[in-house]
Amino acid sequence: MKIVSIIGARPQFIKSAAVSRALKKYKNNFEHVKEIIVHTGQHYDKNMSADFFEELQIPQPDYNLEVGSGRHGEQTGLMLARIEEVLLKENPDWVIIYGDTNSTVAGALASTKLHIKTAHIEAGLRSYNRKMPEEINRLVSDLISDVLFAPTQNAMDILRKEGFGEKSIFTGDVMYDSFLFNKELAQKRYKLEKLTSLKKYYLATIHRPENTDNLNRLQNIFTAFSKLDLPVILPLHPRTKKIITKINFSDNVVILDPVGYLEMILLLKNCKKVLTDSGGLQKEAYFTGKACITLRDETEWIETLENNWNFIVGDNIDLIMEKISCADFGKRGDYFGDGNSAYKTLKFLISNK
Ligand code: UD1
Ligand code: UDP
Repeated sequence: MKIVSIIGARPQFIKSAAVSRALKKYKNNFEHVKEIIVHTGQHYDKNMSADFFEELQIPQPDYNLEVGSGRHGEQTGLMLARIEEVLLKENPDWVIIYGDTNSTVAGALASTKLHIKTAHIEAGLRSYNRKMPEEINRLVSDLISDVLFAPTQNAMDILRKEGFGEKSIFTGDVMYDSFLFNKELAQKRYKLEKLTSLKKYYLATIHRPENTDNLNRLQNIFTAFSKLDLPVILPLHPRTKKIITKINFSDNVVILDPVGYLEMILLLKNCKKVLTDSGGLQKEAYFTGKACITLRDETEWIETLENNWNFIVGDNIDLIMEKISCADFGKRGDYFGDGNSAYKTLKFLISNK
């Protein structure tokens, strides 16, 4: 049995690592399964791509389509043409697509048009904001894929409501698998002092176009960071790096290059709180028991909003300042599965070859 995994952006490396690891760990159950990894080349800087393959022991891609950056149509179109070629050659039993990037939707289109069975990991997420490119990617991918793997019961409910119940399965979240597997390793392999001399800090990331492509919003966010009571460590996404020279901020903001996943977990474990517009980091804050301030106007991960673990604040400076001092937390729920989501996903694909 042959499975093609299509990946291309940082969070997809972390998601697919869980699948590749499950294949290896349970090799007795999966010995007849061959995974072919297709990297679209959407992310290509060493610290956005190759480092993750090495650190997370993801097998080297069988194909790198080297699509690189570009406008949405241009980038997605190039991927579509190149993925199609690979799929024609490989003729797999299943194609797996992950999350909600342009690599996801290109994979979904290429595969379903060739009538190859297509499975979407992390299906059923919605922001209900169609200005987000990811929302379009999710809607299309969920509509045309053959099987939808939902990371949470909320995602399952959304899929049922949209009429996709019959092709949807709750597996839990492969990002939770990755987090559980790597959290101890992070502490063993890295020392916080090597990353920062700070003992107390907030951890932040920003990369959403709604923030980076709107100077007013981005300035508001950095103004808030500059005023916070603790320094803000900000591993900077290349999209944000391109615009940062136009923004004023104080030396309360400590900028780092993008860090590896294990280093990120270490920074997360030792921070006071998280400020982010990242989908993945909102969840990881929740997994770690760190409160999150979400620098967006909505979130797909609504579970994290319960009991003050996550606040939606957009770019509102007063709200950021108010919510960062909240200390009133309740219980955290068990929403993201049991750490074996990738295994369940693979078992399903094998039984439905
Ligand atoms: C993409 C995904 C987003 C995801 C994010 C994860 C889409 C539409 N967006 O956003 O859902 O949250 O990845 O990080 O698919 N760049 C580099 N080096 C790289 C990669 C990018 O310099 O290795 C720069 C380029 O200038 C590029 C810009 O970052 O134009 C944006 O990259 P792109 O992949 O288009 O979108 P992301 O913002 O990374
Ligand atoms: N991440 C990382 N290094 C960084 C920033 C983020 O390893 O410098 C990890 C983060 O812990 C999470 C994932 O990348 O697992 C999130 O990716 P990103 O924020 O780029 O995308 P999103 O989740 O918003 O799609």
